[in-house]
Amino acid sequence: MLISTKTLLEIATAKSFAVGAFNIYNLEGVKAVVQAAEMSESPAMLQMHPASLRYGGSGLVAMCTEAAKSAQVPMSVQLDHSESESAIAFALEAGMSSIMADGSSMPFQENLEFTRKMTELAHAKGAAVEAEIGRISGSEDSLTVTEKEAKMTDPQQAVEFVAATKVDALAVTIGNVHGKYYSKPKLDFDRLAKVRKLIDIPLVLHGASGLPADMIHRSIDLGICKFNVNTEVRATYMESVKTIFTGERSVDLLETMSTAVVAMQAVICTKLRLFGSAGKAGLYI
Ligand code: 13P
Repeated sequence: MLISTKTLLEIATAKSFAVGAFNIYNLEGVKAVVQAAEMSESPAMLQMHPASLRYGGSGLVAMCTEAAKSAQVPMSVQLDHSESESAIAFALEAGMSSIMADGSSMPFQENLEFTRKMTELAHAKGAAVEAEIGRISGSEDSLTVTEKEAKMTDPQQAVEFVAATKVDALAVTIGNVHGKYYSKPKLDFDRLAKVRKLIDIPLVLHGASGLPADMIHRSIDLGICKFNVNTEVRATYMESVKTIFTGERSVDLLETMSTAVVAMQAVICTKLRLFGSAGKAGLYI
């Protein structure tokens, strides 16, 4: 059942759980997310990085929206981290129900103007917008931000930004990292509490791969209602394919693909339980 990202996140906020948004690249990723969400009776989001959109085009978007429509649980489809107006316009035209307008590499005022413009564009199509202030470090799909370039979300700037842009959700940077955490994760929960106190739209935490359960739970208590997950699921996919090909016997392509789906599914099910969304699909009916 395809529903709007706005509704997905509003109910999650009201009921104090978080929705998992999983980056996908192909049919195996889509199947893994949909089947894990159905097995867990959980809402979930299919998310596509711009690099994945460039690779898969409107066919990949159509596959995601079709899979979400026919799923037994509530799902939405979002374009992740895009700083390109043409990619956003393309995604909206192709039928995505939400986009992330990511101007976080720009100076604050420029980010604000870019996000305001992208929000007008998306809202005109009935789509929701997530944006980011501060800048998350780490690597994802050939986009790398060094620790030196990273910047924490300023709570006062967040207020000005949300009021001026009218975005529907805000991704915060509080020490979270895209990709692997090379040392013990350290999240600035005081900063998150300040942002929550000042802003009443849904808050999002990127870089959820590798965050321990206590940090996930504390983040939800402080208002996070969407977690982005990519690295752990993608690594599981790669590992599964590698393992199957290092065996002696010749392998079948379909078997390789479905083995990877099952492996990814297990990781996604664990995340859905961790985020508290397992068993919550019925809240959306
Ligand atoms: P991870 O790859 O660290 O899980 O982060 C995913 C993400 O934030 C996508 O936007």
